[in-house]
Parts: sequence; C-alpha cells; structure tokens
Amino acid sequence: MEATQLEETQIQESFSMPKIGDKAPEFTAITTQGEINFPSDYKGEWSILFSHPADFTPVCTSEFMTFAHLEEKFKKANCNLIGLSIDGLYSHIAWLRTIKEKIKFNGMENIEVKFPLIEDISMNVAKKYGMIQPGESKTQAVRAVFFVDPEGIVRALIYYPLSLGRNFDELYRALIAMQTSDKFNVATPADWNPGDDVIVSPAGSCGVASERMTAEELECEDWFFCTKKLDKDLVLNDILKK
Ligand code: BEZ
Repeated sequence: MEATQLEETQIQESFSMPKIGDKAPEFTAITTQGEINFPSDYKGEWSILFSHPADFTPVCTSEFMTFAHLEEKFKKANCNLIGLSIDGLYSHIAWLRTIKEKIKFNGMENIEVKFPLIEDISMNVAKKYGMIQPGESKTQAVRAVFFVDPEGIVRALIYYPLSLGRNFDELYRALIAMQTSDKFNVATPADWNPGDDVIVSPAGSCGVASERMTAEELECEDWFFCTKKLDKDLVLNDILKK
C-alpha cells in the first residue's frame, strides 16, 4: 500500500464511530479509579462516556469541575460518568489533584473528580468511538458524548469542537428525556423538560388518526401532531432513585 493510501486508511479508521442503535464497542481500560470493562461493568445502568482534548487545559477543566459537581445528580438518574483523553494516567492524576487544590470556577472550588478518567495514550478507545476527528486535531480527542443505555446500546451521541465547552443542562435533559420515552412510550418535543406535554406516537392507520382527533386525554393540532399531559412528579418519581 502506498504511503498516501495508508494515511487515508488510517484517517478512515479514526472516523469510524458507533451509530445510534449500535452495541457500544467493548474495551478494557486503565482509569483513575482502576480498570474498567465497558460496557459490561455498567450493565443495568446508563453511562455517559465522554472525551476531552487534554489534561491541564482551561475549557476541559471547567467541564470536569461541572461534571464532578453534578455527578450525584446523574447518579440519581441511574447514570455513570466516564471521561477520556489521550493522556497518561499520571497526567490525569496530577491534573485532578490540581483541580481540587487550586481551581475555582463558577462558584465551585475544592472539587474532587470521583468518576473514572480513562488513560488512552494508545488511542485505542478514542479510535473505536470516532473521538479523533483529524480535521479538528490528529492528536487530541474532540468533545464527544456517548449516551449508552442499560443494555449497552448507544442511544445518542453529541460532538463539540475543541473550543466549545459543553452544556451540562442539555446532557441531563437528554438523559431524562430518553428515559421518559422508554418508560412512558412517548416522544419529547423541542426543548422538552419534565412537566411539559409529551408527544404520542404517530397514528399508524386512518382509524387511529380519526380516534386521535376526539380522544379526551389528547390535544391534537392535527391527526399527526398529538400531545398529552405527563405529570412531572410521575416522571421524576419513576426515573430518579430515592
Ligand atoms: C481547552 O480545554 O481549553 C482546550 C483544549 C484544546 C484546544 C482548545 C481549548
């Protein structure tokens, strides 16, 4: 194979990424909390597997502090956090110690990151999850977020460039919305949050379409666009651990 062809193939490999509905690619990795086997260690629970470009960088630091601050909130929603960058274990440990000892951000300080941070110098995991996007950087992972469900299936993925810190309210909203869809067999409209009306699945026959228009519990704009109330407490009591 010629050099350029080889390079092209390597770039294609870096781009291979799981799609929504795929089984999450398996891996064993060293982390700041010991070895993990993903996704098998997390069976029965949701996971957010996310990458960041590098340790000791400011946007990443702000993100880690925010995620660590919210970890309990995600845990209550049956969701584990797992971070990754193409750095070594000792760099990770030193960075997390510095964050705890020195960094203040958005009213947070003395923040201890207790969730695992994967060392991925080999880029083994980053390549499996398409976290390296050569147009952005050939050596650093972009800010990728994979939502993996209790069966180990990829349910959503969000990618951000290096310069853009993530919105953690949106990550939490997406997690709760997907769990709500699963539990109540509904879809969630734009900007949905618990307590807002939800969307009932589209009518699959003319008979159902007519029934929809007169059903008391539904509010229909038209036969294909029907919503219903879903009580906030019902959603949260069902999803959040006590
Ligand atoms: C940061 O986390 O601050 C950062 C990392 C890589 C590129 C740009 C910003």
